[in-house]
Amino acid sequence: MKSNDQWSSRFGFILASAGSAIGLGALWKFPYMAGTNGGGAFFLVFLLFTFAVGAPMLLAEFVVGRHSQQNAVSSYESISGNPKWKWLGYLGVTASFIILSFYSVIGGWVITYLLRSFSGSLTGLSNSRYAELFGEIIGSPSTSLLTQAAFLAITIAIVQFGVQKGIEKASRYMMPALFVLFIVLVARSLSLDGAMEGVAFFLQPDLTKLTAEGVLDALGQSFFALSVGISLMVTYSSYLDKSADLTGSVISVVSLNVFISFLAGLAIFPAVFAFGFEPSGGAGLIFTVLPAVFNQMAFGGLFFTIFMALLLFATLTSAFSLMEIIVSTVTRGKGNRKKVAWIAGFFVFLLGIPSALSFGTLADVSIFGRTIFDAMDFLASNVLMPVGALFISIFVSRKMKRDILSSEVMMSSKIGRVIFPIWYILIRYIVPAAIVIVLITSLLAY
Ligand code: PFF
Repeated sequence: MKSNDQWSSRFGFILASAGSAIGLGALWKFPYMAGTNGGGAFFLVFLLFTFAVGAPMLLAEFVVGRHSQQNAVSSYESISGNPKWKWLGYLGVTASFIILSFYSVIGGWVITYLLRSFSGSLTGLSNSRYAELFGEIIGSPSTSLLTQAAFLAITIAIVQFGVQKGIEKASRYMMPALFVLFIVLVARSLSLDGAMEGVAFFLQPDLTKLTAEGVLDALGQSFFALSVGISLMVTYSSYLDKSADLTGSVISVVSLNVFISFLAGLAIFPAVFAFGFEPSGGAGLIFTVLPAVFNQMAFGGLFFTIFMALLLFATLTSAFSLMEIIVSTVTRGKGNRKKVAWIAGFFVFLLGIPSALSFGTLADVSIFGRTIFDAMDFLASNVLMPVGALFISIFVSRKMKRDILSSEVMMSSKIGRVIFPIWYILIRYIVPAAIVIVLITSLLAY
C-alpha cells in the first residue's frame, strides 16, 4: 500500500488491526502459556496487563501513526525532529522479522493439520495417538520446513496485492465464522465429563503458582496478542484519516482479543482435564487437545477442517501485518513491493529454519536453557516488545505535547474524552513503571 493510501472505511481499519492482533497469540500461545504458568493466576495477570499496559500502548501507537501519517521509522523522527529516534522504528522492524520467522513455523503446523484433517486422517484416533502424531509432525524436518515455506509464500503472495484488497475483504467473513465455531467448541468442551476441573484451573487464580517468569510471560503475552511494542500499529494507523476515532478502535480490538483468548481457554482446559492431558503440555497443547475434542462431536472431522481453515486465516492476517511493516519500511511507498516482499520472505525463512528444526533435529540445542524456538519467542515477546513499548510510552508521553495527544485521542469521540485523562496517566507513569519493574524483577530472579 502506498503511504498516501487510506483505509476505505473505519471498519476496514478495525478489521485489519484486529486481524493483526487476533491470531496464534490468542488461539495457540495464550492457552499454552496459561497452562505452563498455573492457569487462573496467569489469566488474571494477563488481563491486568492487557487493560493497564497493552491497551494504552495500542492507543499510543495509533496516536503516533495517525498524527505523523508516516511509517514506523519516519514517524518518530518527524514528530521529534530528531533522527536518533529512528532506532525505535528499526527495533520494531527487527522484532517483526524475528516474530515472523517463528510465527511461520506454527503457521506451517496449521497447514499440516488442515491438510491432514481434509484427508480425513485425523478422525477417530485415540487421545494418546493425537499427542504422538503431533510429535511426529513437528519432529519431521522436511514437513516443518516445507510447510513453513508454504505459509510464507502464501503470506507474501497476498501482501503483494496491498493491505486493503488482501485483508479487508476476507476478514469480514472469516472472523465471525471463527467466533461461531469457537462457541460450538466451548459448548462441547464444557459438556465433557470432568470438564469443571479444567474450568477451575483456568478461572480460579492460585497466586502461589505465579513466578517472576510467569509475570514476564503474561506481560509479553499481552503485547504479543495485541501486536504492540514494535510500532506495527504505528504503520497501520498512519493510513487512517483524521476523522477516525482511535479510542473506539482500541476498545474493539482489545475486547475482541480478550474474548477470543477467554474462549480459547474455555475450549482447551476443560478438555485437557477431561481427557487426562497435561495443561503444561507446551507448544503442542492446542494441536493435541483440539482434535480430541472435535473427535467427540457429530461431524467432528468436518468441523475440525473448517476450524483449521479459519485458524490458518487468522494466522495469515497476523503474518500479513508483520510482512507489511517490513515491506513498507523498506519501500517507503516507492519501489518494488513485490520484489522486496519475496526477498524479505526468503530471509525470514532462513532465520526461521533453526526454530523449525528445534522440535526435531536441533531439539538438544539450548540457548539460556531454552530451545531455539523458545529463545526466539522469548527474545521477541519478553525482551524486544517490552523494551519497544517502554520507549514508545516515553516517546509519546514526553516528546509529544499533551494538547496534541488530547486532540488525537478526543477527536470526534465522546469516549475519547472520558478515556484521555486516564490514558495519559497510564502511558506516562504506569506503563513505563510496570515494564521496568517486571523486567528487573525477572532479571533478578533469573
Ligand atoms: N498478535 C499476533 C497474534 O496474537 O497472533 C501476533 C503478532 C502480530 C505479534 C503482529 C506482533 C505483531 F506485530
